[in-house]
Amino acid sequence: MTDDIERVILLTGAASGIGAATARALAGPGTALLLHTRGNSEGLDRVAAEARGAGAVVETALADLAEAGAPKALVEVACNRFGRIDQIVSNAGFADKRRFGDVDAAGLRLTLAAIPEAFFELVTEALPQLEASNWGRVVAVSSFVAHTFGANDTIFPVSAAAKSGLESLAKALAYQLAPSGTTVNCVSPGYTQKDAGAHAAVSGDGWKKAAAAAPMNSLAQPADVAAATAFFLSREAERITGQVLHVDAGLSLV
Ligand SMILES: NC(=O)c1ccc[n+]([C@@H]2O[C@H](COP(=O)([O-])OP(=O)(O)OC[C@H]3O[C@@H](n4cnc5c(N)ncnc54)[C@H](OP(=O)(O)O)[C@@H]3O)[C@@H](O)[C@H]2O)c1
Repeated sequence: MTDDIERVILLTGAASGIGAATARALAGPGTALLLHTRGNSEGLDRVAAEARGAGAVVETALADLAEAGAPKALVEVACNRFGRIDQIVSNAGFADKRRFGDVDAAGLRLTLAAIPEAFFELVTEALPQLEASNWGRVVAVSSFVAHTFGANDTIFPVSAAAKSGLESLAKALAYQLAPSGTTVNCVSPGYTQKDAGAHAAVSGDGWKKAAAAAPMNSLAQPADVAAATAFFLSREAERITGQVLHVDAGLSLV
């Protein structure tokens, strides 16, 4: 049943925004996708239908990745359905812009659980699959918040800690997996256009100010970030590993 599948991709946070754009960029004949989201099953079903329409074989799964054991279960779903995993895009996440004094330790722990810990568990569970694959790739979706402090007069302390941890885990994994030929990279979006109604740490005029913080006076678009991820996952990127690519309209230059 999986004979004509060239790669099996596990993509988290696929129901909206960057994850949905990534699913669209990757979907096509020869590709099997496990598309995940936490609770937005309507959005996920829409994205899954589009991906099937583009020729991909698609499975969907819901899970709160902040819960220990959930990432492991997701890997099991992919293995049970498709027999293997070749590529992982760890995209699910959110931003918390509460400053010190407003955010408590529980807030920090929740963000760490949902982002670097979930990544750690996903790749640890999938390690044998990633090592054995002849098209092994991992992309972690990081954020400008780990690189730029005070742009738009905003800081995201706990998100910055989570995304820095994510990038460090990704680089260490890149080194460990290098002999197997599997690559591990990060894409770091700047302020990126959200779908209407999506979770957002910024609202209203805040988006105009966020766009103005970037030298190109523009928000990144989900498709821009998806294109960078698709490149890292491609055959052509086979000797690029351990890198962080900023897709941010120049925000990281400031
Ligand atoms: N948009 C930006 O300005 C921006 C900037 C820098 C980095 N990023 C990063 O880009 C990634 C995608 O963001 P986006 O802008 O596309 O946001 P989005 O449209 O809100 O999508 C976020 C996705 O992550 C899922 N998710 C959030 N928390 C989760 C959890 N605890 N367990 C499982 N899934 C969870 C959401 O699921 P449900 O909707 O089902 O709850 C959704 O599918 C995130 O990692 C974010 O940090 C975004």
